[in-house]
Amino acid sequence: MTDKKKVLLSGMQPTGMLHLGNYEGALKNWVDLQNSGKYEIYFCIVDWHALTTAYENTADIVERIYQITADYIAAGLDPEKVAIFVQSDVKQHAELQLLLSMITPIPWLERVPSYKEKVETLGLDSYGFLGYPLLQTADIIIYRADGVPVGKDQLPHLELTREIVRRFNYIYGDVFPEPEALLSDAPYIPGADRRKMSKSYDNHICMGDPPDKIKKRVMSYYTDETKIHRGDSGHTDTCPVFALLKIYAPDEIDKIKSDCESGNTEWGCVKCKKLLADRIIEKFTPFREKREQLLTDREKLRKILADGAERARIRAEETMKLVRKALKMWSEQ
Ligand code: TYM
Repeated sequence: MTDKKKVLLSGMQPTGMLHLGNYEGALKNWVDLQNSGKYEIYFCIVDWHALTTAYENTADIVERIYQITADYIAAGLDPEKVAIFVQSDVKQHAELQLLLSMITPIPWLERVPSYKEKVETLGLDSYGFLGYPLLQTADIIIYRADGVPVGKDQLPHLELTREIVRRFNYIYGDVFPEPEALLSDAPYIPGADRRKMSKSYDNHICMGDPPDKIKKRVMSYYTDETKIHRGDSGHTDTCPVFALLKIYAPDEIDKIKSDCESGNTEWGCVKCKKLLADRIIEKFTPFREKREQLLTDREKLRKILADGAERARIRAEETMKLVRKALKMWSEQ
């Protein structure tokens, strides 16, 4: 008897070009999980989620879907091995979200940290936005996923997903496994202002950015604010440039750490930033060329997404049959 493969699902918002946080926090891990051959994998581009904030400005979403698809493939995802698809091509996600909304207490949604933060900072107050993590729950459990490879910022959403699964299974019987988060080696990447790297903070570096843009952004990074003169001893554990050097210059990291912490006057923050910019440019130049080439054939990208959606729909519909049956819905009686 062959063991059934475990199922993984993850997704990203179509924000256009992906940044280093998306790559190091999630995408790089996705490629490794794909290449391990151990899983059945679904990767979703969540265009309905984008509407929860960008509902007035929908014109860019299609282009952003092409951009992110090119990033996925240029980074090493293989559409033959994993299903890459657009969320709105698999309508079952919406049906499941609707049914889950019946059993989800509103306070569970109101206490999600990203909801509270965005209500305060962006003044968002729509029903759709409140339901954001419930749609994410539907994205995950409609594939009866065992694992969800994401960055650290998604853990509260995953916790809510697990709670909803427990509630559903308790009320209607066991349909869903409780999915687990699979974190990468670098689950949190800081941006230039030390906050989480994110397009909404405009503190990011995209994998596909041209070298001059990468250089400019790296040079604008905060470092250790207590290291004012080169001879001052630095604190590498709180420096965002050091956090990135650990990833992009592992061969130099021990020396940088001891020079920075001992206040060696030969080695200052500017040198660190120059090294970091060079390493990022060197690493992502082949990637940038590949993504640009992929974007010259939109028909091919469209076909990849259509094939992925077809595969995703089969699994999603299988799950919905189980769900409708568990709820004793009309269509399954
Ligand atoms: P999104 O589009 O914001 O981010 C996509 C992935 O990138 C990771 N990430 C980071 N990791 C480390 N450091 C950072 N600075 C950083 N910024 C982003 C995220 O953790 C994520 O893994 N709600 C999700 C989209 C979503 C989803 C899903 C994810 C919808 N449905 C189902 C998983 C499963 C989001 O907005 O991710």
